[in-house]
Amino acid sequence: MDELQALDNTRLPKHIAIIMDGNGRWAKERGEDRVYGHHEGVLSVRDIVNACGEIGIQYLTLYAFSTENWNRPKEEVNALMELLVNTIRKEIDDLKKNNVKMHVIGDFESLPEVCQRELNEAKELTSMNTGVNLILALSYSSRWEIVRATQKIAQDAVSGVIRVEEIDDNLFRQYLTTSEFPDPELMIRTSGEHRISNYLLYQLAYAELYFTNVHWPEFRKPHLIEAIANYQQRERRFGKTSEQIQTNIPQHVS
Ligand code: FPP
Repeated sequence: MDELQALDNTRLPKHIAIIMDGNGRWAKERGEDRVYGHHEGVLSVRDIVNACGEIGIQYLTLYAFSTENWNRPKEEVNALMELLVNTIRKEIDDLKKNNVKMHVIGDFESLPEVCQRELNEAKELTSMNTGVNLILALSYSSRWEIVRATQKIAQDAVSGVIRVEEIDDNLFRQYLTTSEFPDPELMIRTSGEHRISNYLLYQLAYAELYFTNVHWPEFRKPHLIEAIANYQQRERRFGKTSEQIQTNIPQHVS
């Protein structure tokens, strides 16, 4: 518990989003197959979900499989899908016990049926939990999400469910896959790349971005605490001046 004292509990981010990068490189550096890196990456997922519970983070979104990841070699895609199914089967009791509520965002129907079944079951079994909301982004990309939202808004406008004048930020958000979650205040990417890679582009508009060279299979609770401590040192201005923020004028995103 000691290391948690580095954090100011009154200024915790509600929602942390992570790009879990570097599994493949971590494995290659050890002369192993890329899939070995993904297996080890699951241990980090476990550790970080538990750490979020301990710290008091309410929402954790993990980029587990992007739309673009379908273009990887077939064997790696299959291994990732199998790992997902096996991990959920293995972890479901602990997720229930640890009060974790599971959600999925992304193009759900594009996932293999066995994954869909397992994910639906896990969502159902954890639906009454009130601890960390674990949001898995699977077959997800922001451009896919924004185009899909636009199509749905256009359909609703054409059929008279909404009026064009009603389309604003609030309405647009209701059509995103993240409609039930607050925007992440902190986005962490592991493994040294400084990119957002089609991840939560709308939702990250005002997020603080944190990049670390640590590969995902080595990213553990102390690294998470370091990232949150770094976030807490930043001044979030939302387009205002530093003086306005320091005199405590209520912060509205503009
Ligand atoms: C990025 O590393 C990681 C992925 C594409 C998959 C992440 C998946 C897991 C950690 C395991 C399954 C997750 C859950 C939630 C059960 P990379 O392969 O792009 O690494 P590289 O950039 O070094 O090649």
